[in-house]
Amino acid sequence: MLSTAPTGEQFPLPTPQDETAELRRLQALVAEHRAQGREIVVVLGVGFVGAVMAGIVADSLDKTTGRPGKFVIGVQRPSTRSFWKIRLLNRGVAPVEAEDPEVSAMIARCVLEKKTLTATFTYDALCLADVVVVDVQCDYFKETLGNCRQGHAEIAALEESLKVLGGKIQPHCLVLIETTVPPGTTEYVAYPILKKAFEGRGIATEPLLSHSYERVMPGREYVASIRDFWRVCSGINEPAKEKVVKFLSEILNVEKFPLTVLDRPIESETSKIVENSYRATILAFLNEWSLFAERNGVDLIKVIKAIKVRPTHSNMIFPGPGIGGYCLPKDGGLGVWSYQTLMGFEDDIFKITPLAIDINDTRSLHVAELVRDALRNMGKIVAASKIALLGASYREDVGDTRYSGSEIVIRKLTEMGAEIAIHDPYVKHWWELEKQESYPAPGHSWSRFFRNQEKLKDSKVENDLSATLKCVDAVILAVRHEAYMTLDPDEVIKMIGRPVAVIDCFGILDDVA
Ligand SMILES: NC(=O)c1ccc[n+]([C@@H]2O[C@H](COP(=O)([O-])OP(=O)(O)OC[C@H]3O[C@@H](n4cnc5c(N)ncnc54)[C@H](O)[C@@H]3O)[C@@H](O)[C@H]2O)c1
Repeated sequence: MLSTAPTGEQFPLPTPQDETAELRRLQALVAEHRAQGREIVVVLGVGFVGAVMAGIVADSLDKTTGRPGKFVIGVQRPSTRSFWKIRLLNRGVAPVEAEDPEVSAMIARCVLEKKTLTATFTYDALCLADVVVVDVQCDYFKETLGNCRQGHAEIAALEESLKVLGGKIQPHCLVLIETTVPPGTTEYVAYPILKKAFEGRGIATEPLLSHSYERVMPGREYVASIRDFWRVCSGINEPAKEKVVKFLSEILNVEKFPLTVLDRPIESETSKIVENSYRATILAFLNEWSLFAERNGVDLIKVIKAIKVRPTHSNMIFPGPGIGGYCLPKDGGLGVWSYQTLMGFEDDIFKITPLAIDINDTRSLHVAELVRDALRNMGKIVAASKIALLGASYREDVGDTRYSGSEIVIRKLTEMGAEIAIHDPYVKHWWELEKQESYPAPGHSWSRFFRNQEKLKDSKVENDLSATLKCVDAVILAVRHEAYMTLDPDEVIKMIGRPVAVIDCFGILDDVA
């Protein structure tokens, strides 16, 4: 069995015999680092968040001695989908692509120079840990597009990790759950699993469980958005709370960005869900006003700028062609699911939170309507047109395509028969299209909501704008990438070489243009 990295390089999966040698390698490393007084930190799940968090902990210096105070072991399942991450990390190569050059520099520095970071496939690493940071995913699966109530939290990967943890960690080990979870998970799911596992092992002490969520933002400030930013945390009991405050204070810039310590993990978990649902709601609210504006010749971008001058309204944002990223489309769903499933309430208190997700998930479909109408006005139809989509990522100046509005746009137009050319200066491969049978996970692709999606597997993301635009019938400006903000309309028309419909999802072109 092989695990294939995005570069195409293949790595054979480890065999059960490899486990013993791997544990010996780790034991030797741990003994060496303990002799230097270092704490052993295991980061479980080295994805977008875990890989960078592991780097930040490994790069941290003891604030009194100025020397490295932690040795970090990143643990990742040896699955065909993910094993390659371990091999890359151990070469000093970051397993995630980031616009922030510090991500790859930090990983290389910690693995190759400081030697404070290694990665492994064996869960036995957990037996060696003083702290375990849990960064595995917890997704929300939607059965239909535009009705998130028909769906559920996918908490199985997290439960599986917790069961393994309970069987292996030492009683003094702090478990820090960073995963965004349905509120109540630490107390109602994690605690009983760990407590039972401890009892089974004859351990009488209480598990030291804590929660602190990530506010990481993909982009040029990726590392700083974890290390130099405010954090909320909490522990299940006083010793856990004290330990988590101590741990986070040792690795983050808490001097400038103090911690907010809450009384219970459910408060920290709820904080994350409310924070993201609030943002999703402002975006969804503006959907109806953008339709009002569009149909009545009102420039909503100007309206929002006028309103934002008022300090109480300064965080209002225009929703663009759809709302994506890993967090906003799912986090509110985790809250609604928790109320009914973990807490067992039968009534329906949530109106705004799920509605906001539904509006945001389907906003992009309107872009396809605009393209259809603009082409009709030129006497053309979508099915016989070539359309250029400028921008694949979910927000400006990042290469992150997870749940981007552009994906829905392209899927809907493909369903309607369009031929599409894609351009994005930050995206080399659009995995959601190229590997739609397995990405983001088998059965999870948005292709399931549309017909005729097969051909999208052959999609290529162009880097050359004039090649993308040549002879197209319509252009969709979908993302506010810097390169698009400075486009000269006359130049664009020259590149296209014929009359074209322009669908500007962000007011990128001004009235003069
Ligand atoms: N990516 C973001 O921008 C962002 C921002 C804020 C919060 N978060 C939250 O952080 C959490 C992690 O997100 P992510 O983007 O890193 O996800 P991810 O899918 O990139 O990473 C999760 C990793 O955990 C691994 N994993 C799963 N089960 C495992 C197990 N049992 N043992 C070991 N490894 C396992 C997966 O293979 C994967 O590598 C989520 O809860 C997410 O909501 C993410």
